[in-house]
Amino acid sequence: MEAPIIQAKNVDVFYGEKQALSQVNLDVFEKQVTSLIGPSGCGKSTFLRCINRMNDLIPICRFEGDLEIDGQNIYHPAVNVVALRAQVGMVFQKPNPFPKSIKENVAYGLKIHGLTNSKSSLDDRIEWSLKAAGLWGEVSDRLDEPGLSLSGGQQQRLCIARAIAVKPRVILMDEPCSALDPIATAVIEDLINEISKEFTIIIVTHSMAQAARVSKRTAFFHLGELIEVGRTKDIFTNPSNEKTQNYITGRIG
Ligand SMILES: Nc1ncnc2c1ncn2[C@@H]1O[C@H](COP(=O)(O)OP(=O)(O)OP(=O)(O)O)[C@@H](O)[C@H]1O
Ligand SMILES: [Mg+2]
Repeated sequence: MEAPIIQAKNVDVFYGEKQALSQVNLDVFEKQVTSLIGPSGCGKSTFLRCINRMNDLIPICRFEGDLEIDGQNIYHPAVNVVALRAQVGMVFQKPNPFPKSIKENVAYGLKIHGLTNSKSSLDDRIEWSLKAAGLWGEVSDRLDEPGLSLSGGQQQRLCIARAIAVKPRVILMDEPCSALDPIATAVIEDLINEISKEFTIIIVTHSMAQAARVSKRTAFFHLGELIEVGRTKDIFTNPSNEKTQNYITGRIG
């Protein structure tokens, strides 16, 4: 198999005295979707937030271990966290467009990271991002309207457009469909599948059906430990650990 883009090595995370992750070792491969599954409180969001150092924003949170992207430890003191977050984008559970126009939402990251140097290249990148997020056809004639005027599913696609505009290497998604109806969910799942040709995606989901539909690999967490990781098909049909088996058959969760 090719070399992993992300390698977590012996990752421990604490909130104050409480340990939320213990000795997590996980490889994530490029340009494919990896799902993180497991019961509530098992540490999925905590692990996701390690990858763009969002946990740094929680004062009581402490990280130990090694987390490498392309072989570089992202917790090294010399790492520029703003630049890291341009490389590792994030999409949240609840769509959270800025209270700005559709266009401004997508332009935001491009401007703060200084990624476009002319108005025409900015407009081109906005169009590219909205097309890649499957939203262009619905918004091309209303780019100056507020992002918040869109439907929930459209807002989530706008957030995905905003995340991909800066062409990150990795996109983290924490239950991106949990606030959406089944039709909007299906649209986002198709989109995840489409953009995984270009980006590495890690998605947290409570829906095993969703993990099965969108991801090539699945990692199962339980009580802060990574119990098992493998091809999604194998995890759901033939897990090697009893805890995974119990979770997928609904005995724990
Ligand atoms: N900001 C925080 N401060 C203190 N403890 C936290 C914080 N965030 C998470 N925790 C604790 O860390 C553990 C893991 O939480 P986390 O949110 O990562 O779980 P999760 O798997 O994402 O759960 P869910 O499926 O409910 O979203 C839990 O025991 C939780 O209470
Ligand atoms: Mg969570």
